[in-house]
Amino acid sequence: MTAVLDAPVCRPTRIRALAPVSGADIAVPVAGSAPLRYANLDYAASAPALTAVADQTAAALTEYASVHRGAGYLSQVTTARYEQARETVRAFVGGRADDTVVFTRNTTDSINLAASVTPGDVVVLDIEHHANLLPWARTGRARVVSSKATVDETIFALDAELAAAPAALLAVTAASNVTGEVLPIARLAGLAHRHGARILVDGAQLVPHRAVSIASFGIDYLVFSGHKLYAPFGAGVLVGRSDWLDAAEPYLAGGGASAAVGIDEIDWHTGAARHEAGSPNVLGVISIAAAAEALCDIGFERIGQHEEALVRRLDEGIDALGHVRPLRIFDDAYGRVGIAGFVVDGYSPRQVAEHLSTRHGIGVRDGKFCAHPLLAKLGHPDGAVRASFGVGTGSDDVDRLLDALAELAPTSR
Ligand code: ALA
Repeated sequence: MTAVLDAPVCRPTRIRALAPVSGADIAVPVAGSAPLRYANLDYAASAPALTAVADQTAAALTEYASVHRGAGYLSQVTTARYEQARETVRAFVGGRADDTVVFTRNTTDSINLAASVTPGDVVVLDIEHHANLLPWARTGRARVVSSKATVDETIFALDAELAAAPAALLAVTAASNVTGEVLPIARLAGLAHRHGARILVDGAQLVPHRAVSIASFGIDYLVFSGHKLYAPFGAGVLVGRSDWLDAAEPYLAGGGASAAVGIDEIDWHTGAARHEAGSPNVLGVISIAAAAEALCDIGFERIGQHEEALVRRLDEGIDALGHVRPLRIFDDAYGRVGIAGFVVDGYSPRQVAEHLSTRHGIGVRDGKFCAHPLLAKLGHPDGAVRASFGVGTGSDDVDRLLDALAELAPTSR
């Protein structure tokens, strides 16, 4: 009889990275062996720059000059690049022609801007990253709805809250930064609109991974960050309807936002300039546009397939281990981006992260991921571990993670 018990573990075919990223071959020190190639599994915090983005940003740097302020040739070149970036970003996320595209520092900054212009109550879920909780809490007009076991039940709860009292806005994440679970944005947009509210979508964890269309999903405001979009140069984006943005006080008071200034009277610009006072992060903005173009060149269909294959490989590997417990918010999620939150029996999240780093050269994030209410709700108030990935990741990174986690199995202790 054939001995099946000793059959070698058979992993599916190798999956290669989809696109080159900066630092892909960096070796890092590890305990007890020669340096190992760094396995970057922390894309959800900050993704490495796509090589194409780094190259274009470096090229723009050589011609960099003041934006919106100079008559010189390079000022004109830089201003044209900056303004062209708005159109590139608008097209990338399927924005409407009359949407305003404001460049900010990051998603947090974009949501703080949105909070400063929203004229009424905001309904949010308790699963959000702090970036989509705290700016609203500060306005004193946030109404927090508790998520339920399923997406469907959660949508019923949101429906009830929006029906109970008028709200100006529903602010939701498109993909959880803790579990990667994706929410049905078009359905949520329809829900908000039926109740006379608008919808703001925190796209920080979805925009780098899936095609998003403001116009066809019915999104009113979309926010995201460059540093998760393979453009880690410190800029972020808010795209959305112009009226609230034009009616509100400028987010920052200063030059660039003001059209005419007297000692007693100020005439503020409308449009993006109203909320972009001071010299903007031109290279950060150019890098976001470069990332948008590079991701479109790769194609979101390929990006989605690549990531789903890696997620499947990781999930199956984790299931087989038995001592690694994945985190999930919903029983019926609509899919996941390349994010996996988990805990390991018998080890604190910090011990796991240190084991992965010091012995295996693998970078993950541990802690509460700026989502303390969600971690508490999931039964892990002291935190968890999160592996996250994207276009620069291959199956060898996932396999290394699984092998390193296997060492923490009770039988290996
Ligand atoms: N928001 C980022 C994260 O979830 C920093 O890690």
